[in-house]
Formats: sequence, structure tokens, C-alpha cells
Amino acid sequence: MTTPSTTPVLEIDGLGVRLPDDRSARPILDGVSLTVRPGETVGLVGESGSGKSVACRSVLGLLPPGARAEGQVRVSGRDVLSMRPRELAGLRAREVAMVFQDPRASVNPLRRVGDFLTEGLRACGTPAERTTARAEELLDAVGIRDPRGALRRFPHQFSGGMLQRVVIAAALAAEPALLLADEPTTALDVTTQAEVIAILARLRAERGTGMLFVTHDLELASAICDRVYVMYAGRIVETGSTDELFDRPRHPYTAGLLASTPRIEAGAPPPRPIQGRPVSLSEAPPGCAFAARCPHAVPRCAQETPVLAPHGDALAACLRAEEGITL
Ligand SMILES: Nc1ncnc2c1ncn2[C@@H]1O[C@H](COP(=O)(O)OP(=O)(O)O)[C@@H](O)[C@H]1O
Ligand code: SF4
Ligand SMILES: [Mg+2]
Repeated sequence: MTTPSTTPVLEIDGLGVRLPDDRSARPILDGVSLTVRPGETVGLVGESGSGKSVACRSVLGLLPPGARAEGQVRVSGRDVLSMRPRELAGLRAREVAMVFQDPRASVNPLRRVGDFLTEGLRACGTPAERTTARAEELLDAVGIRDPRGALRRFPHQFSGGMLQRVVIAAALAAEPALLLADEPTTALDVTTQAEVIAILARLRAERGTGMLFVTHDLELASAICDRVYVMYAGRIVETGSTDELFDRPRHPYTAGLLASTPRIEAGAPPPRPIQGRPVSLSEAPPGCAFAARCPHAVPRCAQETPVLAPHGDALAACLRAEEGITL
């Protein structure tokens, strides 16, 4: 897979997010930086609670209530964090679309799928007389047979996988430059998951949409992403091309995620879970937030906070990355 070199559709630069707390502000993200270029699919991976959804939602200005953000989030060069509500609404209608884990949370159960789609199309400027035909085209593009019949149906008449296709069709209504997909297949069975992934990959190839693909599933990220960012306790701990990260992880957390992923090839070693449980940034002790779970921790890991630094073609935030300890 190649990496286009055009201006990024998404640049997150030094993003920090804090929630108000009784005593002090509670950090949930710290210094998160990532880039998505047009036509590129970029993975954001990590265990539950690592901050993937907060980072993803910040792109649409959807921060948790009362949260304070620092740093920059730019969509096609424009800073989102300083946008007024009206500008943000325009961004959501026309430039950035988001697909969440649970398709049923994205639709009104009392309204027909046709109303859901045509409303979205009108909001992004499709002339009223074109909306039905365009809605049918979009449903056809995501592999829904009989699009005309589908428009008359209610959400409960669709399976989870079919409804997720409808939500993806709605997300594409404005032909967004950027698609944010937050665990879009986690609630689906494996076969449907593969079909939805194939649709996303095809849409990316045909339309050149940039995609930030959030998942806890490394295997899935390897199937669809050009590059991957690995997140732990609200920070990016490793990033590089998908091939690079999978062949030669530099950070023990990435190596742990890989070792804990079940593999189907004959002779593959059984999965080995990472010991302990993930911590949030506010509970993390000083030094490396992963130290309590890391098989390679040494005393200085509890004193020094590692920062992202180049190691070969990747960046890793581990004090021992240059030693090749994960191999
Ligand atoms: N609305 C919110 N209010 C308070 N804390 C939140 C909120 N959303 C997320 N968090 C906290 O931020 C951290 C990251 O959460 P999240 O981004 O949802 O993780 P992930 O998507 O990687 O599972 C967690 O510690 C979570 O408890
Ligand atoms: S800095 Fe130390 S504790 Fe953290 S990942 Fe590297 S070796 Fe492990
Ligand atoms: Mg999440």
C-alpha cells in the first residue's frame, strides 16, 4: 500500500484533553498527534479506555461535557477547536462523517430509513428532487439489494450488519473528505464484519476518502490500514506503517497487543494476554504509564516519561526501544 504525499485531511497536533475534577483537572489525552492524508486509511488502536474515542470525537468538536482541550485539530487545514457551533455544524454536514460502533444508536427507530437518508442529503445541499435517487445510489454502493424497498423500511427491519451499511451510506452522503470510523464493526458477527470492511476499503479506493479507523483489534487494523497509531493511557506510544509495526514492533505494548491477538494460521502460537489491566492517564504512575504491565521494565522506567522518538522507520515512546527488546 502506498502513502500519498498531499496535504492532510486531518492533522491532530499536541492534543491534550482534561476533564474538570474536584481537586485538579483530570487528563484523558496528552500530546496526541496524528495525520491522515487524502485516500489514506489510518488505524488508531489500543485497549478499551486508552482514549481512542475521545481523540476521534475531538475532530468533530465533540468533547466530553466540561472538557478543556489544548493543541490543534485541523481538518483540511482549518482548526476545529476554535470553530463556532455554526462552523462545526457545517463541518459535520459536509466535510467529516463519523460511523460509530452501534448502528442503532445513529438512527431514529421511529423513522423510515428513507427519511434518515434524504434528510442527511438535504442537509448537505442535494436538491430535493434528487434526494431519493441519490439515497438509492448510496444504498446500492454499500451493497444493499433492493435499495428502493429499503428506503421504505424501519431500522428494526434490518439486521445489525445491514443497518451499519445504511449508516455508512448516510455518512457518504456529502462525499466527505474524511471518514471517522469508531469501532464500526465491533458489534457485528465475523462474516458481516468482513463484508463491511470490504465496503469501506472499496469506497476508499473509489472515492479517495481519508479514513481514521479506530479499533481494539490489531488483526483488523492490519487488514485495512496503511499506517497505524498505537495508543495507551491517553498517549500515542508507537506509530509507523502497518507492515513495519506488525513485522517489527518497537514498543512492548504493541508487541503485547500482537501477541494477545488470536491467529488462525496453522502452527501459530496461542494468544498471550498482556498481564494486568489498562490504566487511564490520571491513574498512571510517574514515568512510563505501561511500566506496571511491561515485561521489560527497569527501574528508570518509573522515573522518566518516554517520548516518541524515531526508531528505524517508526516512532516509539519506550526508553528501551533502541535495544530491540520486543523481538
Ligand atoms: N464523557 C466522558 N466523561 C468522563 N470521562 C470520559 C468520558 N469519555 C471518556 N472518558 C474517559 O476517557 C478515557 C478514554 O476513553 P475513550 O476515549 O472512550 O477510550 P476508548 O475509546 O479507547 O475505549 C477513559 O478513561 C474514559 O473513562
Ligand atoms: S519505557 Fe520501560 S516500562 Fe515503558 S514500555 Fe519501555 S521498557 Fe517498558
Ligand atoms: Mg471507544
